[in-house]
Amino acid sequence: MTRSKPKIIVSRHSRQDAITWGILGTGNMASRMVSCIRAMGGEVLAVGSRSIDSARHFADRHGIEHAFDDYDALAEGAEVDAVYIATTNDQHFANAMQCIRHGRAVLCEKPLTINAQQTRELVDAARSAGVLLVEAMWMRFQPFVPVLDQLIEEDAVGSVSFLGAHFSYPIEASTESRWYNPVLGGGSLLDLGVYPLTLAHYLLGEPETSLATATLTPAGVDSQCVVSSKHAGDAVSTLSCSFISAGSAEAVIAGIRGRIRLLTPFYHCPEIVVEPHAGSTARSINTEYPGDGLECEIAEFHRCLRNSLLESPLMPHADSIAIAFWRMSILEQVGVCYPGT
Ligand SMILES: NC(=O)c1ccc[n+]([C@@H]2O[C@H](COP(=O)([O-])OP(=O)(O)OC[C@H]3O[C@@H](n4cnc5c(N)ncnc54)[C@H](OP(=O)(O)O)[C@@H]3O)[C@@H](O)[C@H]2O)c1
Repeated sequence: MTRSKPKIIVSRHSRQDAITWGILGTGNMASRMVSCIRAMGGEVLAVGSRSIDSARHFADRHGIEHAFDDYDALAEGAEVDAVYIATTNDQHFANAMQCIRHGRAVLCEKPLTINAQQTRELVDAARSAGVLLVEAMWMRFQPFVPVLDQLIEEDAVGSVSFLGAHFSYPIEASTESRWYNPVLGGGSLLDLGVYPLTLAHYLLGEPETSLATATLTPAGVDSQCVVSSKHAGDAVSTLSCSFISAGSAEAVIAGIRGRIRLLTPFYHCPEIVVEPHAGSTARSINTEYPGDGLECEIAEFHRCLRNSLLESPLMPHADSIAIAFWRMSILEQVGVCYPGT
């Protein structure tokens, strides 16, 4: 592959103008995000891929002006306000660091990095450079979250003492796919488990103790994983994720007076059901959102950028770092070790 010289695109951004975006990667999430960014008034000006053919194909398919045959070339040469990173998990750290160095605001897919120290390094780099950095943990930007906050605030089930959150998504085993490939940061915890972990961290805070067990593939990534934790007060959580079981994707939050069910899929929950243990009848709250569901995180990212914020209060850096360290302790317990980490 010959590396083309970075093309320079003139930035058109002012506070009133549309926010301009570059996209890294040409896979499923990259495609989904193009239409969501446009739906939220953003302009997608450039795409970067490891191959110029993929970049051009993606650009043609989505009507994007500039195609780069290299991720770094886009970070350097495309004068865009923001870059959405939708590459495989192993690439996120290098991609995000490169964008930060060139002053591009970064919305990076979850998990922000594989290794927790790298998450901290990225956050430090973004803060020193005065650049907005947000982990694209779309669950945290969904309309069900403030509804849930309100229910907990008004003590709908009493003080939360239990969380059960599960995310199963059967995926056929193949070492070719990013899900099962350790080199690409595969494994059920990094792909699916990050959602239950993030919900537990949001509701109950960092765990005081956490015990994990997993089944590993011959290549050494977890095909399913279960985590039991004790949090502050008398709260406990039981969390799981699986590539090999067609289980649920529901979450149950319980206190002494009843439970709140986040119906499937809890990470973009369309309906919350409050079930009192005794007395009053169950009630249901519609928490559906218009569109794909990714628009909420774009709206928040645009808001942060327009207000010169360096992080989103809805998914703060401290949470990305704390969850990354929790994740790493789980991976250590179950014996998953990624190359180069
Ligand atoms: N928020 C969500 O709902 C959600 C859902 C699914 C996934 N994700 C996250 O989004 C990211 C991308 O997931 P996806 O489902 O879009 O994956 P995908 O369809 O496999 O696309 C991944 C992209 O990564 C790039 N890449 C870089 N190095 C690669 C390598 N060695 N092998 C294969 N591809 C490589 C490729 O782009 P080029 O070939 O163009 O370079 C590829 O198109 C992951 O971090 C994942 O965790 C988020």
